[in-house]
Amino acid sequence: MIAPVPQDYRGRVIELGAGSGALTLRLAARCPQARILVCEINRSLAQVNRSNLAAAGVDSGRVEVVADSAETVLAQLCRKASDKPDFIISGIPLGISPPTRLWPSLTRFVKPCARAHVCSVPVFPG
Ligand SMILES: C[S@@+](CC[C@H](N)C(=O)[O-])C[C@H]1O[C@@H](n2cnc3c(N)ncnc32)[C@H](O)[C@@H]1O
Repeated sequence: MIAPVPQDYRGRVIELGAGSGALTLRLAARCPQARILVCEINRSLAQVNRSNLAAAGVDSGRVEVVADSAETVLAQLCRKASDKPDFIISGIPLGISPPTRLWPSLTRFVKPCARAHVCSVPVFPG
């Protein structure tokens, strides 16, 4: 999921639904010049992510973990015209998220050429 982000990328990357940060750590290591804004709705997981980043020596000024929903974070970022990211990575199973909530924020927020990399989690009935 993070392979499309160039290793020398200096812009901003958004990670939605980062969990405990397995991907955040890899992204921070892969792209040492990128600014990474991470959100996770579960406060405990967000704190685990922060602790893991700190233990790995990642600068909290460069990689910021916000304990809030992707919808809220994207809505706040949408209000700022500048500093749009080229890359948004989402661990949230968008296939089961009500599409009216998250997708419009995503499509309004990103640059015209941005790519969204979304993990696909199959949902089994019953
Ligand atoms: C599949 S897990 C991500 C795993 C993560 N990539 C990792 O490596 O640990 C999906 C995460 O999205 C979070 N999540 C679900 N809905 C969310 C929302 N609306 N906003 C922010 N995070 C959300 C869940 O709490 C969960 O931690």
